[in-house]
Amino acid sequence: MRTRKLGTSDLRVSAIGFGAMGMSQSYGPAPHRADNIALIRAAVERGVSFFDTAEVYGPFVNEELVGEALQPFRGQVAIATKFGFAFDADGRQTGLSSRPEHIKQVADACLKRLRVEAIDLFYQHRVNPDVPIEDVAGTVKELIEAGKVKHFGLSEAAADTIRRAHAVQPVTAVQSEYSLWWRRPEAEVLPTLEELGIGFVPFSPLGKGFLTGKITQDTEFTSNDIRTTIPRFDHDARQANQTLVDLLAAIAARKNATPAQIALAWLLAQRPWIVPIPGTRKLERLEENIGAADVELTVDDLREIDDTATKIEIQGARYPDHLERMTNL
Ligand SMILES: NC(=O)c1ccc[n+]([C@@H]2O[C@H](COP(=O)([O-])OP(=O)(O)OC[C@H]3O[C@@H](n4cnc5c(N)ncnc54)[C@H](OP(=O)(O)O)[C@@H]3O)[C@@H](O)[C@H]2O)c1
Repeated sequence: MRTRKLGTSDLRVSAIGFGAMGMSQSYGPAPHRADNIALIRAAVERGVSFFDTAEVYGPFVNEELVGEALQPFRGQVAIATKFGFAFDADGRQTGLSSRPEHIKQVADACLKRLRVEAIDLFYQHRVNPDVPIEDVAGTVKELIEAGKVKHFGLSEAAADTIRRAHAVQPVTAVQSEYSLWWRRPEAEVLPTLEELGIGFVPFSPLGKGFLTGKITQDTEFTSNDIRTTIPRFDHDARQANQTLVDLLAAIAARKNATPAQIALAWLLAQRPWIVPIPGTRKLERLEENIGAADVELTVDDLREIDDTATKIEIQGARYPDHLERMTNL
């Protein structure tokens, strides 16, 4: 697998990473733990060297899963995780917290769950309006000086927040949603990252599965699937948004690829320092997604995708209101 550098940092990872969230939450029943571990290891064997988790996934169990699966590959792969939520005594998420003392406690707990001596990339999961970003960056700087963290990241942060944080502790990567049906980072965030030499990690790069063409109007989600709460996945929205999938399918047919691969190849083509992290629980989909790194979109392909995609008005919000309010965009 080809590799990419996240901005001007020394963090070099596979061009396609792996998002582990869906193995513990969000997309219906979780597979057996042993199957998840086997799939994560299969990803390493196929050249994936960048794995994404977070304290809040599960919570806690996703980090434990990733830590166990990747223990035999310590030093060969980079694990990114995230802090920034608070929990009650029963492990229920109670809101945001990026207080410095809290970040330090989370770092220690993450190190144990991930079974590593240092966290390769530690993102603030959501910007916390109650804590100045300078204080957050300063705390991560201390963790880096203590050898507990190697790189600092932000997620769903606005350009101005990124700039302020970067002035205190250089940011290696920003992780935010980005795909053909959510292009907001193009306006301010990507130009800022380019200027500052920061890498970009698009999450939900397959539109939570929609851009693969495997979700239709008739697809039924289980009650614990987050997509039952997302306006963009309403029945009518899915019908309207199918036009975008049809575009991907048309390009895919011509390139001997799949819609998922075109969605990922399009992201890779936007900047050389972009590393998407698709998530899957199935080996054949893992291999399909990895294959996107070898799909070359020509200038004409990219122009055609852009010309058509910009005319498509995507229906429905990407998040329910309470989750959108947590972002800093
Ligand atoms: N920073 C943040 O706030 C944030 C938010 C969301 C996600 N993330 C990270 O980003 C990662 C990826 O995002 P995501 O999981 O939300 O969305 P995604 O990668 O866009 O899509 C995942 C969904 O697509 C399906 N899928 C994957 N590959 C497929 C293929 N080739 N063909 C058909 N279906 C396919 C998966 O189903 P199966 O599993 O059944 O294959 C799953 O339902 C997460 O794992 C997480 O690490 C971060």
